[in-house]
Amino acid sequence: MLEDIEKIILTEEDLRVRIRELAAELSRDYEGKDPLFIGVLKGSYIFMADLCKNVTIPCEMAFITASSYRGTQSSGNVRTDLNALPPLAGRHVVLVEDIIDSGLTLKVIGDSMKSQGAASLEICALLDKPSRRVNDLRGKYVGFAIPDEFVVGFGLDYREHYRNLPFVGVLRPEIYGA
Ligand code: IMP
Ligand code: MG
Repeated sequence: MLEDIEKIILTEEDLRVRIRELAAELSRDYEGKDPLFIGVLKGSYIFMADLCKNVTIPCEMAFITASSYRGTQSSGNVRTDLNALPPLAGRHVVLVEDIIDSGLTLKVIGDSMKSQGAASLEICALLDKPSRRVNDLRGKYVGFAIPDEFVVGFGLDYREHYRNLPFVGVLRPEIYGA
């Protein structure tokens, strides 16, 4: 598995330090608001866990599934299921994602959440590839902006593998045939 990684771009220590900073920022901004953190599965699961462990205010957690990816390119055809969520009316929602790439996934999810009457809606993403965006979507809380390279680890997958790596690394292009 490690031999498939070309280089590590974010170490365990980089991730730990930055996630603590994000959690501190969220704890300040959402004081007294009982935020609802909604993790987008599966990619966000490790980030969500580390983030929430460092949040110091009362909060609630939920998860939704979303998938649009086929290999390394977003299909733009996002499937999601909002039925498993608690009522969003009046809630301060923070969508927790592994990475904002084209922005299509979060746009679809965000729009349907707004239509359910959330009091506020912000995005917290571990990674951001701004150069890939096809819409005007922006994350208020972003861990790291990264260049346009396909990365895996810390929840991010290639064909459902590598999610368990404790760091974020660039996958060797020959693995996915680039
Ligand atoms: P978007 O809809 O294009 O913004 O895609 C978001 C989803 O694509 C993320 O939640 C990831 O699951 C996946 N994704 C985007 N870029 C990468 C990457 O570099 N590695 C692994 N998954 C990625
Ligand atoms: Mg994925």
